[in-house]
Amino acid sequence: MSSKNLTLTDNTTGKSVELPLLEGTLGNSTIDVKGIPGELGYFTHDPSFGTTASCESEITFIDGDKGVLLHRGYPIEQLAENSNYIETAYLLIHGELPNAEEFATFSNIIRRHTMINESLKKFFDGFRHDAHPMSMMMGVVGSLAAFYHDGLNMNDEEHLMVSAHRLISKLPTIAAACYKHSIGEPIVYPRNDLDYCENLLYMMFSVPCEDYVVSPIAAKALNLLFILHADHEQNASTSTVRLVGSTGANPFACISAGIAALWGPAHGGANEGVLTMLDEIGSVENIPKFLEKAKDKNDPFKLMGFGHRVYKNFDPRATIIRKVCYEVLEETGTQDPMFELAMKLEEIALKDEYFVERKLYPNVDFYSGVIYKALGIPVSMFTVMFALARTSGWVSHWLEMMADPNGRIGRPRQLYKGSPKRDYVSLDER
Ligand code: ACO
Repeated sequence: MSSKNLTLTDNTTGKSVELPLLEGTLGNSTIDVKGIPGELGYFTHDPSFGTTASCESEITFIDGDKGVLLHRGYPIEQLAENSNYIETAYLLIHGELPNAEEFATFSNIIRRHTMINESLKKFFDGFRHDAHPMSMMMGVVGSLAAFYHDGLNMNDEEHLMVSAHRLISKLPTIAAACYKHSIGEPIVYPRNDLDYCENLLYMMFSVPCEDYVVSPIAAKALNLLFILHADHEQNASTSTVRLVGSTGANPFACISAGIAALWGPAHGGANEGVLTMLDEIGSVENIPKFLEKAKDKNDPFKLMGFGHRVYKNFDPRATIIRKVCYEVLEETGTQDPMFELAMKLEEIALKDEYFVERKLYPNVDFYSGVIYKALGIPVSMFTVMFALARTSGWVSHWLEMMADPNGRIGRPRQLYKGSPKRDYVSLDER
């Protein structure tokens, strides 16, 4: 029993249970409710997990009220300023920043796993050219399980680590292939002399008939966006990866499930949604009309890229991205009226009582699309970019979960509100 605890008393029966208080390194203490069903016969009710800690984790910490995001203790602002995506991926997976030798070994491994089995390329032919790239990503990443299943020993840490490396390495190759398929160009093989983001740009934008030089501005901006998207503790897609992984499922299947969860517009699909929304708003004069729609509870329209379950202050990633937006547009010489529109929308919304009262601020997705657009990445690929970056976070959580000696299958309870027990009625009597 923890030294601190709470007593929960059932006022009907007078029975009590002592609930230990679990202390983390940072953040809210957490009540261990496991004793409640045994002692009092009740379950706890927390739909959408607004207050429930589903696991213990040492990877990422968020203080949503203060706008703080730490990876393994390091503030996101410092990682964005000084690190690169591969180093951040190492940090997430291993818990410490790599020394020079560890970094060289890790980046070498990630570069060497970039190729995909030739038969996997044929899978793309099964998709129509206009298939959404996220649907292809889900299908093709899930299909990797077919190539890496028989020899995979889920009790061997090294096997699990190799799977994590394969996922981080191969996803850019698959993402670029999704894009090439959608525009009818041949799939481009990876080049292991290029770094992670350069390689992705090369596979997306080069063609076999001419030389292609990767833009350093684009590679730098992508690297930064990928650091900002790398992990975000127990969000919907990461929790999905953990839940699926808790069954002992193949890691490629787990990440495919994560991709599915990320696709939704309430989660990673919001970056695509922001551009569609800005397009729909069209010009500054229309902003008030759309803000009214966003506030109207009878209208399904929401301000995409606004609001967050955890951040009730600014999202620190959005602050960094907004600044980078200026830089990228300036460096690429892009004049994007959408950026102007986005900034005006932010300004007006942040003064509106509805958004102030509900603490709705721009999230990571509000400005990322403007940058992707300036880099020539099509809107339908925005969430794919997010999925690539988040893969390092997903695999880190999956590895952490798999290493937990007390890990059990994830299996929530429910509050049943359906019909009580009743007898079957034959068809002719209904
Ligand atoms: N536009 C208008 N109203 C909003 C918005 C929005 N974007 N977001 C929240 N609200 C309102 C809700 O209607 C609710 O109002 P109420 O109290 O009058 O009922 C209140 O603000 C609180 O919001 P919840 O829905 O309870 O917040 P929740 O934590 O469930 O949802 C979410 C968070 C899904 C991010 C929501 O803010 C949203 O849908 N935003 C738009 C989509 C988006 O940008 N998603 C990306 C999130 S970041 C990421 O996943 C990478």
